[in-house]
Amino acid sequence: MMDMIKRFKLIIWSAALAAALAACSEGASSERRVKIGVTLYQSNDVFINELKDELTLAFRAKEAPGCGAPLKLSFVDAGGSQSVQNNQVNTFIAQQYDVICVNMVDRTAASAVIDKAAAAGVAIVFFNREPVRQDLMRSSNLYYVGAAADQAGEIQADIIARAWVAEKAAAFRADFGRRVLGRDWAGEFRPVMDLNGDAVLQYVMLEGEPGHQDALMRTDVAIRELTGAWRVKVERLASDTAMWQRSQAREKMAAWLAADFGAEIECVISNNDSMALGAIDALRENGLNLPGASGGRRLTVVGVDATKRALAAIREGSLWATVMNDSKSQAKAIADIAVSAAGGAASTDAEGFDGKFFYSDYKPVTAMNAEIMD
Ligand code: GAL
Ligand code: CA
Repeated sequence: MMDMIKRFKLIIWSAALAAALAACSEGASSERRVKIGVTLYQSNDVFINELKDELTLAFRAKEAPGCGAPLKLSFVDAGGSQSVQNNQVNTFIAQQYDVICVNMVDRTAASAVIDKAAAAGVAIVFFNREPVRQDLMRSSNLYYVGAAADQAGEIQADIIARAWVAEKAAAFRADFGRRVLGRDWAGEFRPVMDLNGDAVLQYVMLEGEPGHQDALMRTDVAIRELTGAWRVKVERLASDTAMWQRSQAREKMAAWLAADFGAEIECVISNNDSMALGAIDALRENGLNLPGASGGRRLTVVGVDATKRALAAIREGSLWATVMNDSKSQAKAIADIAVSAAGGAASTDAEGFDGKFFYSDYKPVTAMNAEIMD
């Protein structure tokens, strides 16, 4: 009896599925598939790869279950070459793609891409690498999705400064207890930031690609906020680009640790997480920032992005904090704008879209909230 019921259910279910599939393919064949092409500046970039995964999910979510608007989504990798990317855009146009999402290799070279697309009536959604305003104003149907770069610097400075101020207050309490009350009133005080106790934060800065809007802004604003708004005294021991890359940052940091100022470094401020993790690779090779609470001498390392690997490093205690570059909300905005632009009027329900630009908000991530950000 049970078997019969099961078989009966199976028959009904298969019939329903067949009907649904038939309805879908009918719908799909009468409707032209919207074609979306995406070109990435290069695939060897951890954040860009996470953004790519989010983009795939966001575009898939645009296809209603079963038979919603079917999309053709194609990703290509420009491999760090602007001329390769120009050709990729030309090919998408020749193949009658409706919208092209462009992660520019050289963000100052957008005009060639824009003119081609405008002539063919194809919309472009730029993302992550922001073309200059003048180019974005060249024609309608051009959009940009990214994050407000100065905010990342502000938040980095805030995280460092709050901990710095708290540490100075704790140092004062401990000192007051010893001198005035004659006892360890506030418990033993151990500095975690100002390791040499001179009330100055000795730091090194790992910068992203020269000329990238995020690298320029994050570097400048972080220090401006720390010293200006928060009045933290800082001393820059070294600063250099490591091109967003972990391996380059590891080399830079190893050289700095071996330099005559190496033992004085207290803090590593990095424009992104990959480079922060590269710095930690070098620290570990020198017996510093080892995982776990008893990991010996520990420098304060701060990144930006909140990549999966960075969140894991925060949880194990080698990376101190990061600032989330919200790939999920950027991906959603890109997908919303791209699909709607194909139909004529670009829109997204993501708050803050002004018809042309969407900037996601950055968020602070420390051991307090790293768990829930993953
Ligand atoms: C930044 C990100 C970096 C890198 C770069 C590539 O926004 O923080 O990690 O991915 O974009 O353009
Ligand atoms: Ca110091």
